[in-house]
Amino acid sequence: MAFDQLWRKTVLTVAANKVVTNFVSNYGMRLGAKRFIAGESLEQAAEVVKKLNNEGLLVTIDHVGESVTTKTEAIEAADEAIRIFDIIDKYKLNANVSIKLTQLGLKIDPELCYDNLDRIVETAKKYNNFVRIDIEDSPVVQITIDLFKRVLKKYGKEHVGLVLQSYLYRTENDVRELGKLGASLRIVKGAYKEPESVAFPLKKDVDENFNKIVAIHLKSGNFTAIASHDEKIIEETKRFVKENNISNDLFEFQMLYGVRSGLQRQLVKEGYKMRVYVPYGKEWYPYFSRRIAERPANGLLILKSLFKS
Ligand code: FDA
Repeated sequence: MAFDQLWRKTVLTVAANKVVTNFVSNYGMRLGAKRFIAGESLEQAAEVVKKLNNEGLLVTIDHVGESVTTKTEAIEAADEAIRIFDIIDKYKLNANVSIKLTQLGLKIDPELCYDNLDRIVETAKKYNNFVRIDIEDSPVVQITIDLFKRVLKKYGKEHVGLVLQSYLYRTENDVRELGKLGASLRIVKGAYKEPESVAFPLKKDVDENFNKIVAIHLKSGNFTAIASHDEKIIEETKRFVKENNISNDLFEFQMLYGVRSGLQRQLVKEGYKMRVYVPYGKEWYPYFSRRIAERPANGLLILKSLFKS
């Protein structure tokens, strides 16, 4: 097994340990989580967004949290997503909103989740804004697509879009199907620990599939967000859009807050649309663990900050 795969598996396994969870949740912000999280409150996040906007970067705001266990928590999560739209409007931020369906109660009751999702997309439409539904681990992919299709039909592609992962074998087919509905898609490689029965085990195949599905979606005239920090992917996208005369309104690059900030600004300078995914909130631990799992250097960074005052 390649080192990066082994690192990823190990970090995601250790991160699930209760003792580790408690320790990092208590001390993590001091240990360097704030490099990736804009703050624990929406107001702190709004300050960060304003600064990014001033540098020409677009933003998508995510109130971190996933897999809630009560109906009250699910409703509160939807209320908070709606509050993000209010704040975007109030401070005239150039931003939209990203959400996770397990945070809206998907694992408690899909209909409860749908009602919450419906309220959020309705608000997006009211403000002429947009909601991006993040994609989670493979057991919830189909139900996420099903609920997405319902809100897509009701509110339209200008107000709601979905994320799909190039590591899943099924994704090419999903892209073709959703392409027929004109869906706006964000393509990512995928951040969860998945078995070989559903996902490409080799990075090379995940990367190849990424380029392939981006090309399929762009060629069929649909909006595509290329969400990757991988320079090879970015270069290939630039080449593809140039060769196929794809207009700048049909695609944008997206990256995570705190990752490859220099490259983000470089793309803005080159005239590309670049959107930064800005997470905030108290439940930042699982999000943070996935960022460490993606890159050993991030783990070292956190270790170093352990020994700084
Ligand atoms: P890859 O992991 O191959 O890395 C390429 C290079 O990018 C690395 O060599 C390094 O230089 C840099 N890099 C990558 N990750 C880094 C990090 N954490 N810190 C520092 N440098 C890093 N996943 C998912 O399953 N569902 C979702 O909804 C989303 N949503 C999402 C939104 C946005 C805007 C982004 C950018 C990503 C996601 N993801 C996601 C995460 C995604 O699936 C994937 O895990 C990460 O983007 C890392 O993969 P890359 O494409 O960046 O390439």
